[in-house]
Amino acid sequence: MTDLYAVIGNPIEHSKSPLIHAAFARQTGQDIRYERILGDLEGFEDDVARFFAAGGAGLNVTVPFKVRAHHLADSLSQRACDAGAVNTLLPAAGGLLGDNTDGVGLVRDLGCNHLFSLSGARILLLGAGGAVHGVLGPLLAAQPQRLVIANRTASKALELAKDMASSGPVLGCGLDQLSGRRFDLIINGTAAGLEAKVPEIPDDCLAEGGCTYDMLYSSEPTPFVTWGRAHGAARALDGLGMLVEQAAESFRLWRGVRPDTASVIEALRTA
Ligand code: ATR
Repeated sequence: MTDLYAVIGNPIEHSKSPLIHAAFARQTGQDIRYERILGDLEGFEDDVARFFAAGGAGLNVTVPFKVRAHHLADSLSQRACDAGAVNTLLPAAGGLLGDNTDGVGLVRDLGCNHLFSLSGARILLLGAGGAVHGVLGPLLAAQPQRLVIANRTASKALELAKDMASSGPVLGCGLDQLSGRRFDLIINGTAAGLEAKVPEIPDDCLAEGGCTYDMLYSSEPTPFVTWGRAHGAARALDGLGMLVEQAAESFRLWRGVRPDTASVIEALRTA
């Protein structure tokens, strides 16, 4: 029997998840169908209930519903708990289990696909919204020398750093408090790129040989990829690999097999 999966978000027509999961299914011989659902901004919870009542086997949740999915799940994985957000739902004993695969997706993309050593690195993480919250735990678990969260609204970065202080060496500050600091990796987790902007950070905060990573992805270089190239990044990466890696982790949770991601990233990159 074909099992049904979907991604729910609003907007959703741009989502590449159906393409990615179809490629995983072909590769691993799994019999699944994967659709897009335009979630109702008022009635997201009803949409989810309807999907699972109709026999749905698993859901990915995307913007703007990840925090609401965290509230509606009957139980949570540790990483979903830490992230305060859920991007993967699956039926389990006692109701719906919520997990979050975004952070592990980012860490795997950096570590396995780009061979970037997070351990001992000085990391600057830009933003303090849901995207940043979701990846903080796995980034700190990779044991950086230091992780600085910098946000336009400094108070949010300070609060996030305080919440995560027991997980590793993390500090919060405003974007305007970075002068004189150098980082081996700068990750952009802000929504500035959606307005074709980049966060305002000092020109010299990327260390020699350092890399930049934009959690956003687009077929054209994103504004932050362009910033990285213009500021001497050894590699200026975008979030395509993270997108595929978080999907692979969801697929593994649902189907019990881990698909190969390199071929899927390559296919999407050249498409
Ligand atoms: P998401 O769930 O995608 O993280 P969010 O919770 O709305 O979305 O958070 C958006 C983040 O992008 C915030 O950190 C926001 O900064 P503020 O907290 O100061 O609002 C950041 N952001 C959005 N536009 C930005 C811009 N033009 N420059 C810098 N940061 C920006």
